[in-house]
Amino acid sequence: MHAHSRFPLTHNPSGWYYGFISTDLKPKEIKNFTLCDKEVVAYKTEQGTINVIDPFCPHLGAHLGHGGKIVGENIECPFHAWQFGTDGKCANVPYSDGLPPQKNNRGCINHWPIKEVQDIVYIWYDNEGNEPWFDIDIPAELSDRSIWSKPKIYSWTLDSHIQELVENAVDTAHFTKVHEKTYKNILPKVDESDFSSTSFSITTTSDFDVLGKKYPTTVFVRCDGLGVMHVESLFTDKMGLHLTMAMRPAAAGKVELRAIIQHRISKNPLLNVFQRLFAMDFFPNEVEHDIKIWKNKRYVPKPVLSKDDGPIMPFRKWCEQFYSSPDSVQPMIASDTLKGAA
Ligand code: FES
Ligand SMILES: [Fe+2]
Repeated sequence: MHAHSRFPLTHNPSGWYYGFISTDLKPKEIKNFTLCDKEVVAYKTEQGTINVIDPFCPHLGAHLGHGGKIVGENIECPFHAWQFGTDGKCANVPYSDGLPPQKNNRGCINHWPIKEVQDIVYIWYDNEGNEPWFDIDIPAELSDRSIWSKPKIYSWTLDSHIQELVENAVDTAHFTKVHEKTYKNILPKVDESDFSSTSFSITTTSDFDVLGKKYPTTVFVRCDGLGVMHVESLFTDKMGLHLTMAMRPAAAGKVELRAIIQHRISKNPLLNVFQRLFAMDFFPNEVEHDIKIWKNKRYVPKPVLSKDDGPIMPFRKWCEQFYSSPDSVQPMIASDTLKGAA
């Protein structure tokens, strides 16, 4: 079944989304990809400036990502060799000594707001064309190699909706079944949750089973919009894993997911080896378990909830702010049926 028919939500809420890994794009390289059903072109200039633009040349419509090239700081169109600067403005028309009028951005190429954090380029998408109206907050200490290890990055493309991936974080009851290897019949307890801004956070505690040994564990989740989620799991005070889930609605019904995994650096080298093996093998496996559910499930707008489910409905209410049209989110269920579900 097509993913769209399973999700009665518009595919493209506003937010910061995973674009690409900046080192995957070499100077003078151009890449095409899809962001929120739109084709975009990313390139790196000779001096290393990254730019993400609309693909079609404003002159006569050639696709800059098919045959375009980088000349210094400009991108050159394959059709009549016009060049555009990183500000989107036409910088050179090779057969003319004048430049086209560039009032109201006509003659310019639309460029997308981007933000590079921890070698990942995030791109802002707004379903009404607004400039970024919230930020993503990636903790600076994640780049400090004396605190957190070098990241390992895993990639998936799946048929789903990003809201479904993020809902997983507040759906505490699924851990007991889908992640039963580590949660072993334990329902994580929600200690705190906050849905009051463009980020939500939730803290849960439980026992975590690592190779048959139980560790009291605290999991902090913070999600900035629907595109960037941080999951920090602390096992005792000695071990910790950090997972950044960087997501992008791609072509219709597809989600690009990158899991960026790091472990806390311990003074004990054995503990580091253990954490590395654990982080490498354990997390991707657990994500695969989730994917099996995501790629086949459907979104239930009015779910039947148990009083011990996580804060599913407060989460869905929080999501509404990222959709511009009221039609694009399903009506919430009457608040009296919410009792006990929060
Ligand atoms: S279409 Fe791009 S220069 Fe003519
Ligand atoms: Fe999960």
